[in-house]
Amino acid sequence: MTDSTFKPTQASGFRQGLTSYGDQGFSLFLRKAFIKGAGYSDEALDKPVIGIANTASAYNPCHGNAPQLIEALERGILLAGGLPMTFPTISLHESFAAPTSMYLRNLMAMDTEEMLRAQPMDAVVLMGGCDKTVPAQLMGAASAGLPAIQLITGSMLTGSHRGERVGACTDCRRYWARYRAGDVDEAEKDEVNDRLVASVGTCSVMGTASTMACIAEALGMTVPGGASPPAVTADRMRIAELTGSQAVQLARSGLGIERILTADAFENALRVLLAIGGSTNGLVHLAAMAGRVGLALDLDAFDRMGRDTPVLIDLKPSGQHYMEDFHHAGGMPALLRELRPLLKLDALTVTGKTLGENLDAAPAPFAQTVIRTVSNPIYPQGGIAVLRGNLAPQGAIIKQSAADPRLMEHEGRAVVFENSADLAARIDDPDLDVHPHDILVLKNIGPKGAPGMPEAGYLPIPQKLARAGVKDMVRISDGRMSGTAFGTVILHVTPEAAIGGPLAYVQTGDRIRLSVSKRSLEWLVSAEELAQRQKAHPITSPSAARGYRQLFLQSVNQADQGADFDFLRAEHSQGKTPR
Ligand code: FES
Repeated sequence: MTDSTFKPTQASGFRQGLTSYGDQGFSLFLRKAFIKGAGYSDEALDKPVIGIANTASAYNPCHGNAPQLIEALERGILLAGGLPMTFPTISLHESFAAPTSMYLRNLMAMDTEEMLRAQPMDAVVLMGGCDKTVPAQLMGAASAGLPAIQLITGSMLTGSHRGERVGACTDCRRYWARYRAGDVDEAEKDEVNDRLVASVGTCSVMGTASTMACIAEALGMTVPGGASPPAVTADRMRIAELTGSQAVQLARSGLGIERILTADAFENALRVLLAIGGSTNGLVHLAAMAGRVGLALDLDAFDRMGRDTPVLIDLKPSGQHYMEDFHHAGGMPALLRELRPLLKLDALTVTGKTLGENLDAAPAPFAQTVIRTVSNPIYPQGGIAVLRGNLAPQGAIIKQSAADPRLMEHEGRAVVFENSADLAARIDDPDLDVHPHDILVLKNIGPKGAPGMPEAGYLPIPQKLARAGVKDMVRISDGRMSGTAFGTVILHVTPEAAIGGPLAYVQTGDRIRLSVSKRSLEWLVSAEELAQRQKAHPITSPSAARGYRQLFLQSVNQADQGADFDFLRAEHSQGKTPR
C-alpha cells in the first residue's frame, strides 16, 4: 500500500540529494541497499521523509527528555504517514561549553544547515531548548530553506528550598549573591545547590531558553502552544506528537521556512520579546536569524516598538512566577491574544494557517494572574531599551524591566576592568577604589574580545560593597548577560573594545552619564581626548593561527548584526525589520 497523497518523485524522499558517484541510478540503488540493511522496506522508503535533528547529549541536561520526545515525535510522524529519520547534531549547554556557548552557536548553525542540505528529507523537526540551540537551529534551517518546524524541549520543574520555591537560574544568582554577601553559609549554599534544578529541562524563568521558545512560537515556527509545556509533562509529549504529524503536513504542502520567516514574523517576535520581559540575548539571536533571510534588524524601530509594548508576563527575573505558571495560565496563545491589536496577524505559521487564524482557534481565556492585560502591565514599556551615544555609536541595550529604577538616570565615575581576568583578579580586592555610585566598566568581552561575547556582562557587585548592602550598580560592557540575571546592566556596547570601539579607551576616573528615558549613554570625554588616547594606544583586532578560532575571529560580526559569521548572512537584502 502506498501513501495516498504523497507521490514520491526524483526530488523528494530518499530520491533527492543523491551522493555523487557519477551515476544517479547507482547512487539511489546503493542508498536503498544500505538503508535496507537497517530493515527498511520499499513501502517505508516511499513515505515523506521527516528528519529529526536530535540534540540529545549527556552534557546537556536541558535536553534530558530527548528520548521521550523523539518517541512522541516518531509516533506523530508515523500516524500522519511519514517516515521519521533521527540524526544527531551538535548540542550546546550553557554550563558545559567553554569559553561560552555563544562561541559555538554559529558552528551549530553550520552543522544544522549542512546536515539538512546533505541528507535526504522532505521536512525537518528541530528539537532544541537550551539557550543557543534554538537560534542555531533556526539560523541553519533558514539558510537551508526546506520545510521546518521547531520542537522545544521544555522547561524544568521548580524546586523547594526550606519552604521557598526556587528555580534556575535567577534563584541560582540570588543565592550566590547572598553567599558572597555572607547571608548564606557554606552548608546552605551546598543544600540549595540540590534544589535549584528539580528536573531535566531548560531554565524555569524567562531566561534565554524560555525567551527563544516564546520567540519561536511568535515567529510561527512551533505548533500553537508549543513554547510553554514543561519538559517532563504529558502536555510536552502531546506537543511533540502533534509536531511530528504537522511536520508531515509541511512535507506534503511544501511550505518552506522562507514563507514563515518574513519581516512580519520577525516583527511579531520582537513584539513578544518586549512583552515577555525577555532575555537581551533574544535580540542578538533575532538579528542573526533575520540576517539569514536578508533582513536587517532596525534597533531604533525596535526601541520605538518598546515604547508602546508593555511587559505582560509576571515571570522572573522581571516578575515573580516561573515557566510552568505561564503554561498553566494559557501560555503563548493567551499572551498573543492579549497582544493581538499589536501583531501582524497575516503572518503564516507552520500550521499552514496565519497567526490570526491560529488565535481564532485558541482555547478560551480564563481568570489567571500570570499573564496581565495591557491595561494592567508588569512594566509600562517593553523590557529592553536601546541606548545610543558616544560610548556606543552603533547601540547598546539595557533590560530596563529588570533594572533598579533609581539608577535609570545616573551619572558616575567609571571603575574600569580591562578584561575578564582583570575583573576576577580585582573585583573582590578589599583595597579596590570603588563606591556605590561608581559605574563598573568591563572591556573586551564582545564578539571578538573574549571571544564569543560571553554572558559576563553581569559584573558582580564588589564584595566589600555587597557586604555593605549594595544590591545594584550601573554596569557597562560589550558582552552579554544571562536572561536569568537582573540589575542595571548595559550590554552589547557596539562597536566592541577589541576592534577599537570607544569603550576601549575608557579609563578609571572618567565620568559616564546614563539616561534611559533619553535612551542615551554619554561618556563625558572630549573628542580631542579620545583622539589622543587612540593615538597613544592603537588597537589590534584579535586573531588566531588556526582552526575554528581563526574562522571565528575573521568572520564574526558585531552584536547589532547578531554576532553571526559574515559569510553566512543572506546574499540579498530583503529590507529591514521591524518596518
Ligand atoms: Fe539550559 Fe538554562 S542552562 S536553558
